[in-house]
Amino acid sequence: MAKKNVIDRLDQEVNDFVNRTLIYEGNAWTKNRCRAFVLQHRQNTRHRNSVLKLKVATNCPIWDIKIDIIEACAQEIIADNEFGGGKPHWQILEDLGVKIGMDRAEIQAATPSKWTQLSWDAWSGLMTNAHWLLGLIGNTCSERVNVPGYGTGPTRELGWFGHVRGVWQEMWELEDEDVNFFKLHTEADLEHSELGWRNVAKYAEELNLEDEVIEACHRNLIVWENYFNGICHLGDTFD
Ligand SMILES: [Fe+2]
Ligand SMILES: [Fe+2]
Repeated sequence: MAKKNVIDRLDQEVNDFVNRTLIYEGNAWTKNRCRAFVLQHRQNTRHRNSVLKLKVATNCPIWDIKIDIIEACAQEIIADNEFGGGKPHWQILEDLGVKIGMDRAEIQAATPSKWTQLSWDAWSGLMTNAHWLLGLIGNTCSERVNVPGYGTGPTRELGWFGHVRGVWQEMWELEDEDVNFFKLHTEADLEHSELGWRNVAKYAEELNLEDEVIEACHRNLIVWENYFNGICHLGDTFD
């Protein structure tokens, strides 16, 4: 009973996050916001998965969970043989940027915007010195939005990236295989976020961290809110 309760509360946090954050709104995507997403989110994938999430793995004393974290990171930064055709996720996103007409060298040379930088510094505080279970929620809470069931309308039905895939395809006249970055995350992020959700269900009560887990989820999602709103604001500066 208590177990179910903590998962319900986590789901509520994710749902509130989707309902209040600009990028999940019905007409959020413009061409310049897509460009800003490529420039910033490629860096996000590389930084979170090579630095921040690995610190959570370092802090985790349970071998199998530690390895699961490292395996999920490897898919993002080294090679995803399961969902990504052997490419890391940042590279699949870079290729998508080129497909929509962006310059590869410019994508590669991008630096954090002021919003992104603020989020990375905040995540560093929340993820690197936290109890491993709280860090694990930091690792996985935003990947949860790619699982159907949060927010409203098509995002709720298809998961966020499941919905975004169709939006980008229409806006940029892309083929199915061009938007694989979004498609692969429907499956990959079910797996990646389950790592957090499953272990909270298993360990939060035992470790007496139920309230702390919810608080960690809430605070991490505020940082994500700043990050995604920042992508929209950056894109708007290109208009
Ligand atoms: Fe990914
Ligand atoms: Fe992921």
